[in-house]
Amino acid sequence: MHFKKILGTAVALAVASTFALTGCGEDSKTLVRMSHSQIETHPDHIGLVAFKNYVESKLPEKYEVQIFPNATLGANEKVLELIKQGSVQYLVVSTANIEAFDPIYSLFSMPYLFTSEAAFEKFILDGKIMEQLGVNSDKNGFYPVAAFTAGSRNFYAKTPIRTVADLSGKKFRVQAGPTNVAMMNAFGGAATPMSFGEVYSALQQSVIDGAENNELALTDQKHGEVCKYYTYDMHQMVPDLLVVSKKFYDGLSADDKAVFDQAAAEAEKAEFEAWDKAVQDAKKTAEGMGVEFITVDVNEFRNKVLPLHEELLNATPALRPLYEEANKANQAQ
Ligand code: GCU
Repeated sequence: MHFKKILGTAVALAVASTFALTGCGEDSKTLVRMSHSQIETHPDHIGLVAFKNYVESKLPEKYEVQIFPNATLGANEKVLELIKQGSVQYLVVSTANIEAFDPIYSLFSMPYLFTSEAAFEKFILDGKIMEQLGVNSDKNGFYPVAAFTAGSRNFYAKTPIRTVADLSGKKFRVQAGPTNVAMMNAFGGAATPMSFGEVYSALQQSVIDGAENNELALTDQKHGEVCKYYTYDMHQMVPDLLVVSKKFYDGLSADDKAVFDQAAAEAEKAEFEAWDKAVQDAKKTAEGMGVEFITVDVNEFRNKVLPLHEELLNATPALRPLYEEANKANQAQ
């Protein structure tokens, strides 16, 4: 862990100095850096490869796109600062990680906001919704430019979770963000927020009893080595957003903006196309690791935390119009 941190800092420094040299090297291409925290077979990475290929095919003399996987530039929360400064240009980040900057993104942390993955996908692919989410972008220093699906988030642990009572008193890692802490408390568990890269060792060292995520975390992050029970309680559907540094984007010409916008659309398409197979493969691999997939009475879990909706809407009234749109998307399915 410590080593990874040092390495992360070293890479970040190297990146900063390369950036300073941009335009003075043997060629005058502008480097575009994209950061994410997944491994290179993950759909997020596949999306970014599509982005890179598009930009470099349209403007080969002008831009070189570099993708940094595995949070090598640092955890999302840190890279957001580099995005604001403009030294990293793009980041794939879960909305849960940006709700501290802007409460509008807490919408997706609301448990059981969507009643189906189809409704969730329709909602995040709607350009008008993306515009509403980006309402405070000038202040935030980044714009959301594409949404990636990340499936459904479910609990997994060292002991089986078959009913809500099984969560009681257990420590679960949640993504940083106040809504996740409120959710976990409402479920009767103890929330332990930490960044994604820290979860594996926290599980191994029994700092936590379990975590919650989509199936890919079991295999890509090896959490299935430690947690042998994965429960389909379906408590959240939280997208990953591709965000661009405002500083970088505002400096582009109109023509180049059009290329980068289309590249974001290509990334979104490629990521969605890769998703279902990635989940199927992860389930198969996890079963091979000895993970049991458990189905439960989802309504029991939903009813336990549903009162949170009104609490969260009252705390952040700006969420209400989006909440109503989400309900419409649910009804349309
Ligand atoms: C998913 C998601 C990531 C997020 C992670 C987490 O893997 O795709 O963007 O960081 O969950 O739980 O932190």
